[in-house]
Amino acid sequence: MKAIVMTGTGGPEVLVLQEVPAPQIGPGDVMIRAEAIPVLFPETKLRSGEFPLGVEPPLVFGFQAAGVVSEVGADADPALIGRRVTVATMGFGSYAEFVSAPADSVNPIPDGLSATDAAAVLMSGSVALPLLETARLTGTETVLIEAAATGIGGYLTQLAKEYGAARVIATVGGPAKAEQARKLGADVVIDHNDPEWPTRLRETLSGTTLDVVFDSIGGTTALDLLDTMTPVQGRMLSYGWLSGAPAQLTATDLITRGLTLTGCAGPDWLARVADARTAALERAAAGGLNPLVEAVLPLDQAAHAHRLIEERAPLGKFILRPDHSA
Ligand SMILES: NC(=O)c1ccc[n+]([C@@H]2O[C@H](COP(=O)([O-])OP(=O)(O)OC[C@H]3O[C@@H](n4cnc5c(N)ncnc54)[C@H](OP(=O)(O)O)[C@@H]3O)[C@@H](O)[C@H]2O)c1
Repeated sequence: MKAIVMTGTGGPEVLVLQEVPAPQIGPGDVMIRAEAIPVLFPETKLRSGEFPLGVEPPLVFGFQAAGVVSEVGADADPALIGRRVTVATMGFGSYAEFVSAPADSVNPIPDGLSATDAAAVLMSGSVALPLLETARLTGTETVLIEAAATGIGGYLTQLAKEYGAARVIATVGGPAKAEQARKLGADVVIDHNDPEWPTRLRETLSGTTLDVVFDSIGGTTALDLLDTMTPVQGRMLSYGWLSGAPAQLTATDLITRGLTLTGCAGPDWLARVADARTAALERAAAGGLNPLVEAVLPLDQAAHAHRLIEERAPLGKFILRPDHSA
């Protein structure tokens, strides 16, 4: 089969289309003929070496895919053959024509949802839902969503009011993303490419405060935000570090302001994210979550997609499509 092999750690050019043996399926596994493979922002960090991969390349790269079950191993339900499903691997093997996974780890794709749209919402939608549940918004609160036009931020922006936000302030980089964040539901948009953006935020708030911050930037700006948050009630949900470092805060910073920081990462958090996949797919199928797709590209364009993500260009997910007829 054709697959994108990560030949080493480095720039997008380490992702190379190669002919490789199809994966094995063991007892309890299913084989999925991939139709739509999302290119995920964290994958660019694993490829570059910024995040540890845990396994030495060369390896078939990629976390997730949507497709059709083509084969089942011993002990897996033969009725699964022909079913449309999504798969989330342990980190390898999804940028490929065929992906194997334990049968109990796949999620059905609801009728009416395309494989492309399922792939687009699978990760970002299933992170946004537990973040919104964890925030426990009251209906009267002001929230800040960072990197609010794309990925997890884009889905948070779409759903924040439904989950109880009264006012949504968004940060984005550049005018195209500002326009998208507004369309997705932001009331106010601030450009986080401006290093003085926390000052712009204070001007926007003009004396009011943020009740909830969905922090994906981390670094030192997280500390700058604390004085804009509602004392005692204010809570920061930290789920990413786009700046290159997690929120640089101490317990003293939080305690003296009466604020709460919730870390939304680690194995137990990721188990919640996995549990939310079905709900994200069902929401998208029912029209309650609008999948954000930038473009569908042939599988051999994986490196190109990584390059554009690193340039912060796309407004939605790149979806890779294997050409099974080639
Ligand atoms: N905790 C979890 O469960 C979990 C799961 C998946 C991902 N994550 C993390 O969540 C964050 C967002 O991931 P995603 O998949 O939703 O990404 P995404 O929105 O698809 O893409 C990243 C966006 O972040 C912005 N960005 C990139 N570099 C930035 C920087 N240095 N400072 C500020 N903004 C920057 C860009 O938007 P602009 O052009 O608008 O700046 C870009 O569109 C990442 O840190 C990721 O690692 C966490």
